[in-house]
Amino acid sequence: MLNDKLGNWTRTHRCGDLTAAQIGEEVCVMGWAQRRRDHGGLIFIDLRDREGVVQLALDPDRDPTSHQKAEQVRNEFVLAARGKVSPRPEGTVNPKMKTGEVEIEISELLILNRSETPPFMLDEFTEVAENIRLKYRYLDLRRPALQKNMLMRHLVAKTVRNYFDSQGFIEVETPVLTKSTPEGARDYLVPSRVNTGSFYALPQSPQLFKQLLMVSGFDRYFQIVKCFRDEDLRADRQPEFTQIDCEMSFVNRAQVMDIMEGMVAKVFKVALDVDLTLPMPRLSYAEALDRFGVDNPDLRFGMELIDITQQVAGSQFKVFSSVAASDGLVKALNVKGGATFSRKELDDLTDFAKIYGAKGMAWVKVTEAGWQSPIAKFFTEDELTALNEKLAAEVGDLLLFMADTSAIANEALGRLRGHLGQKLGLASKDNYQFTWVTDFPLLEWDAEQRRHVAVHHPFTAPLEEDIPYLDTDPGKARAQAYDLVLNGSEIGGGSIRIHDQAVQSRMFELLGIGAEEAREKFGFLLDALDFGAPPHGGIAFGLDRLMMILAGTDSIRDVIAFPKTQKATCLLSDAPNEVDDKQLQELGVRLRTKQQ
Ligand code: AMO
Ligand code: AMP
Repeated sequence: MLNDKLGNWTRTHRCGDLTAAQIGEEVCVMGWAQRRRDHGGLIFIDLRDREGVVQLALDPDRDPTSHQKAEQVRNEFVLAARGKVSPRPEGTVNPKMKTGEVEIEISELLILNRSETPPFMLDEFTEVAENIRLKYRYLDLRRPALQKNMLMRHLVAKTVRNYFDSQGFIEVETPVLTKSTPEGARDYLVPSRVNTGSFYALPQSPQLFKQLLMVSGFDRYFQIVKCFRDEDLRADRQPEFTQIDCEMSFVNRAQVMDIMEGMVAKVFKVALDVDLTLPMPRLSYAEALDRFGVDNPDLRFGMELIDITQQVAGSQFKVFSSVAASDGLVKALNVKGGATFSRKELDDLTDFAKIYGAKGMAWVKVTEAGWQSPIAKFFTEDELTALNEKLAAEVGDLLLFMADTSAIANEALGRLRGHLGQKLGLASKDNYQFTWVTDFPLLEWDAEQRRHVAVHHPFTAPLEEDIPYLDTDPGKARAQAYDLVLNGSEIGGGSIRIHDQAVQSRMFELLGIGAEEAREKFGFLLDALDFGAPPHGGIAFGLDRLMMILAGTDSIRDVIAFPKTQKATCLLSDAPNEVDDKQLQELGVRLRTKQQ
């Protein structure tokens, strides 16, 4: 069958925009047939475009030609239709639809294209396996959920641009074919044909270029920019992802944070009509670890970690007292009302904690008769009283204990806290709790590499008062760094940078990067710092992570038009793929092992 021609037809409205306000108007809509129903003579077609669905009514008495065409329409055919907006007959109004009060009485119908039967229903209700969704991403993107997410993403990007523009920031593009910038992941490399044997690295972030822009005097820069990191993927990580990247000159930490809070507040207002309370809370890294066990705490609920090392140091329970004696930590959580947990649930919690290195988890159910627990017998009455008091224990509570090195006790119990918050429904998706986390350690010891590595990145400045530690005890130095955490997710991170060449060189030394290597890798930065670098600092937000929370989804793939799988593949285009020998030869590349 020949497709109808669009000719000079002009769309007047989007399907989803028609309401009772247009009753009586002649309109022209275009979109995809979501469903066709034949009602003895009358045919109804639900026509869908990105704004929603509207009902077309085709009456054989009004226009027999259109009605005949409508009989051929199948799901996902592309149609154009003209007609008059009318109220739906009594009893057929659909209050669940935005357009549910009206239908269009069609006077002319065009079939612009046909469609094979799609591999899944394109409505909002059908559950579809994700590999199928990704293979037919262009169809999945026709569905309302992803349409909504992509429209919201556009709105957020636009809001960000407008906000930064209003604050005197300018958007500057930085190169994609560049040199490695260390952000802690592996680089994606691109072989150079012209310079055989040499490779570009795709940027893990525009970090060095944005600092150079400050040296150039641009003063306030931002960019919505793709970054590439070859790292193990999780639900909130993609190999290529988007940052809202910013840098400012002549500012301190508080000033950067203020400006960024303004941006985030604007985004929440525009995207969700939510008014955030500013300024946002600020926690030091040390306090975050102490109270929540992790540096990205979820503040939608309390259930804070309580340090009971002192209370159990002298107890008969060797698991606790030995950890206390060896400089470890014993910490506890009071799960209010958790005494109803089954044995199986407690075992599952223990297994969860073990993922984070915990050797075990002790539990106590607080009952009318006292502690019900395998470890109750090890404690004296006085110790029990002290623990109950410290933990504010009441009948019906579940107490969970973790004894380990401070790193493991905090992380395992902290993650368990987050997990319990989800399990107990304490973490509602439309409650938005922000916190800045500041004063991160500058360096951490990497046991495998036997050297210090930068916690944020090597260009982050130490706190002024901690600079002397660089010579005496580098592990103690804190950084002028800050992360923005929302509902337990790190949505942004940044710092005030080193703008003094000598301090930057010292930093490289501390990281075990020799003078020669520093020159080879970062000579251009060191040179630039010598030509009048202003004090500067900035931050980058993970746009995809922010979008996940705004859209209320648990998968980063739901806010990216064409995402990669957990194995970093694209099921739609089948990237990455093998290439011709000839192409490799031109690039001077030979494969060490042939892929299977
Ligand atoms: P950082 O490495 O903390 O800082 O990255 C900033 C933010 O980017 C997001 N993010 C990711 N999102 C999705 N997938 C990933 N693989 C991924 N990796 C990071 C996170 C994170 O908070 N140049 C510095 C910023 C600066 O100092 O100004 C940087 O890149 O939300
Ligand atoms: P055990 O003496 O090893 O049988 O352990 C007694 C109880 O203490 C069990 O409930 C264990 O799960 C718990 N336990 C063991 N190791 C730890 C630990 N590192 N921290 C907290 N509880 C532990």
